[in-house]
Amino acid sequence: MDFAGKDKATYVKETFNSIAGRYDLMNSLMSLGMDKRWRRLAVQEVGAKPGMHMLDVCCGTGQLSMELGRVVGHEGSVTGLDFSQKMLEVAEKSLVQASNVGSVRFLHGNAMELPFQDNSFDGVTVGWGLRNLPDLQRGLREMIRTVKPGGKVVSLDMAKPSLIGFKQAYWLYFDKLVPFMGKVWARKASAYQYLHDSAREFPAQEELVRIFTECGLEEAHYNNLAGGVVAIVSGTKPRDL
Ligand SMILES: C[S@@+](CC[C@H](N)C(=O)[O-])C[C@H]1O[C@@H](n2cnc3c(N)ncnc32)[C@H](O)[C@@H]1O
Repeated sequence: MDFAGKDKATYVKETFNSIAGRYDLMNSLMSLGMDKRWRRLAVQEVGAKPGMHMLDVCCGTGQLSMELGRVVGHEGSVTGLDFSQKMLEVAEKSLVQASNVGSVRFLHGNAMELPFQDNSFDGVTVGWGLRNLPDLQRGLREMIRTVKPGGKVVSLDMAKPSLIGFKQAYWLYFDKLVPFMGKVWARKASAYQYLHDSAREFPAQEELVRIFTECGLEEAHYNNLAGGVVAIVSGTKPRDL
């Protein structure tokens, strides 16, 4: 992938800073409005319950953090972490306008070195975030380090459909339409080209399950959404880790 001569983290941060104001709209358009439902399913998968303390890594504009907050309520807490100041500014604004989202706070930080002690959270989520990290395994290990034994790490992200016919139609849509939409709607063709390329290069759901297991999670599995265009990949931290 071409990072315009920069290291991946710098490029990614600049990219998200530049599209922050339009990110939520673009997300809804590209997912045909299904992103909200997918986030709710990720919240279910991580096993969020009232009173739990959750971490949402790469929280961006905070939509998944707030879905978690709706479930854990004021007795619990959600920490959303991201390294893009502009995405966090949008998250803070949305939080002020949101209702019934419990106790959510947003924190500026790096997913590669999470500023939390071991075993701090009941569950950890990452939405469309893993593929943006410079080192996926290292980022995942950080999430595993900070979740409590028995807690889940859950990723919601682009995946790769396998059904013949649907698969070809999907890649035609994705390869042509997504960069085009980025150009028209956000006037940021390079940013949306990056979103496209990073999704292309991201491991398929089966491969991600293997990586989850290799990094130490138990019972790693995936659930396809929208025919495998998106998948929730999940694993549990062993009680003796
Ligand atoms: C595609 S957005 C996902 C936003 C959000 N999770 C959602 O559900 O829409 C990816 C986010 O990951 C953040 N990110 C990428 N690398 C990061 C890192 N190393 N540390 C913290 N945040 C990072 C970006 O700033 C961006 O906000």
